[in-house]
Amino acid sequence: MPREIFRDFMSRALYTPGTGYYMRPEHPASMAGDYITASQHPLFAAALGLWLRERINGFAHPALADVGAGNGLFLLNLIAFLEKDDPAFLDRLTLYAVDKVRRFDHPRISFLENAEDLPAIEGCVFSFELFDALPCHLLASEGNGWEELYVEDGAFVAGPLSDDRLAGWIAARGPALREGHKIEACLEAAPLYGLLASKLRRGLLLTFDYGFQASVLRRPGLFPNGTLMSYSGHRFGRDVLQNPGGQDITYAVDFTALREEGERHGLRTEGMRSLSALLAEAGRGLPPEAMAWNDPFPARDLFFGAIGQDLKVLVQSRSD
Ligand SMILES: C[S@@+](CC[C@H](N)C(=O)[O-])C[C@H]1O[C@@H](n2cnc3c(N)ncnc32)[C@H](O)[C@@H]1O
Repeated sequence: MPREIFRDFMSRALYTPGTGYYMRPEHPASMAGDYITASQHPLFAAALGLWLRERINGFAHPALADVGAGNGLFLLNLIAFLEKDDPAFLDRLTLYAVDKVRRFDHPRISFLENAEDLPAIEGCVFSFELFDALPCHLLASEGNGWEELYVEDGAFVAGPLSDDRLAGWIAARGPALREGHKIEACLEAAPLYGLLASKLRRGLLLTFDYGFQASVLRRPGLFPNGTLMSYSGHRFGRDVLQNPGGQDITYAVDFTALREEGERHGLRTEGMRSLSALLAEAGRGLPPEAMAWNDPFPARDLFFGAIGQDLKVLVQSRSD
């Protein structure tokens, strides 16, 4: 294999049609697959459904778009909840799912392969672990300058910056890293977030992901090797280069970059908090027996454990 920019390696590993980690017919998110996440739990859909309804019920034509919908469980669980809890609201709600591969079908959901094709909506543009799955460049600070990491014969090698935009990225976001420190630079994140913001005529842009504010992400010495990691069989790993297509590759999202991009698009920042904190508020209207609902994986971990603490949600909104 010739020398390849790490960004291209990650893109090939995750998104090669047919064989990429996220392009295979079976989505890897499940108990039997590689990882579980809160968006797949019926309680998440129920709590968020109640919370969202309060925020968007007043719109004439409320809509919800799930971008990076994966196996669709969030939307399918939401539909199942609203069918029982508030069929009238469900009937008024237009649902969109966006992903590169269509893995589910439901008469209430319009599926799109590209977020560009979303119409302008009033309601909510939602994503869950979309941004931590976008291919990133890997940069290292060396001496007085910056190098980019490439992949050659299954190992990292340093080389010059491959993309003119990286110089601008470093000027805007590059921390004063110590020599040898590494950092992920995703050039796709802000434009995609900006696109989602531009699709929101009125309502909420809700972004759930693993990540930090820039002040944490770039705190000197906190992440000297960056945050890049692999994930498979419900376990973290550090060897992101092994078994391309057979394991997830992910990293911590820079929420400050997303927040600033949203504000540039006229959104108001309502806050950023842990998934636990949002669910504690959103789940208040659920009946007490909800915790005993058919449990595909432990709800308590979702609400109070590692997933609930580590996953963050950025809430931005647009009013008239
Ligand atoms: C980590 S998975 C999360 C799936 C789902 N949201 C969940 O919570 O289980 C990321 C998903 O985003 C999709 N994706 C990546 N880039 C995308 C893009 N530019 N537009 C739409 N979907 C994208 C991938 O195909 C994958 O299904």
